[in-house]
Amino acid sequence: MSLVHLNTAGAGLMSAATVEAMRGFIDGEADQGSYETELQYADLLGHGLYERAAQMLNAPRANIGLFSSATEAWAGILSKLEFPLGCRVWVSSSEYAANLIFFNFLKQSRGVRVEVIPRTAQSPLDLDWVRRHLGGDVFLVSVSHIPSCCGVVNPVEALGAILREHPAYYVVDACQSMGQLALDVRDMHCDLLTGAGRKFLCGPRGSGIAYVSNRLLGDLTLNFADLHTARTNGQVNRIDVLDARVLEIAEKSFSALVGLHQALGEYLADRERLANEAYTLLSSELARLPGLRLLCAEYRQSGIVSFVPERGTAQEFVARAREAGVNLWAGTAAHTPLLLADLPASHFVRASVGRRVSVAQVELALERIRPLL
Ligand SMILES: Cc1ncc(COP(=O)(O)O)c(C=O)c1O
Repeated sequence: MSLVHLNTAGAGLMSAATVEAMRGFIDGEADQGSYETELQYADLLGHGLYERAAQMLNAPRANIGLFSSATEAWAGILSKLEFPLGCRVWVSSSEYAANLIFFNFLKQSRGVRVEVIPRTAQSPLDLDWVRRHLGGDVFLVSVSHIPSCCGVVNPVEALGAILREHPAYYVVDACQSMGQLALDVRDMHCDLLTGAGRKFLCGPRGSGIAYVSNRLLGDLTLNFADLHTARTNGQVNRIDVLDARVLEIAEKSFSALVGLHQALGEYLADRERLANEAYTLLSSELARLPGLRLLCAEYRQSGIVSFVPERGTAQEFVARAREAGVNLWAGTAAHTPLLLADLPASHFVRASVGRRVSVAQVELALERIRPLL
């Protein structure tokens, strides 16, 4: 039975060419040595890959850093930023739980006050509230573009247009939008944007991308720089490269980066086709079906559609769907505690559709899911 994979929000299926690219690198490592293979791929790893990530984000290449996950990028970079004692940090209601954990540590260590940007009936971000309340002590604003629980699209460009006139740092967690929505850091006016390679980009696990603005880069306090960008005589450090790569760790999974390079190439070649017919079909059909309650149906969504089944648990539903040949995911409300504070269940069923899922596959999935409700 052919499996329909509707868990792009967990990890998208890699293309055959992406797997082949990684296999070629790993074969080289096994045959000729890993460092020697890395030398052969120096241009791809040192230039081509950064160029493609930069193109995806409409950013200069020098502002791109590569990491092993979105969280490593997001938390690693923000932990180099000195938060003033007692400053205010604003977060979206879509905020990813790990980001909230980071800010809660700062509550304890720096007395940071964390405030949630309210929602309206029409928008997950109340932009009028932002205009009315933005004061000098708001040090940083953090928004998850699309939450991990469902496809709610936060208006990050409109928020950026307001914040542009204000000194607050603006951080966009684009983990669930990278590879499915057009991302332009110049339109967003953001200081940091992070995402993972494995989700809607359909790259390998163990890869993450960050854009860091010159302003943020200049304001970070470096507590370390690895040997690809720095050296020392034993007494004094010298930083040779002061672009976003100074935030990276030198040792990486280079085979994963070769796969990410291929996945980015496929995305860039295909990005005109971003409007996803398959997603529209899935979300409109699920909205029509009885026996389930859709999450956040009042907001515009993209890529992810989630629901709570009326009978049985989400975990049971997902297990039965897998037996019927459909990969869904039992998402946990704990990963977006603000948005799902009132959810009367600990888990929900999450279906997510990227560029590489066809309309015919969604039709097949719907045929298999309908009898389970
Ligand atoms: C919105 C959001 N941010 C951050 C992350 C963390 O990404 P990673 O697992 O690559 O660290 C996720 C993961 O699902 C996510 O959905």
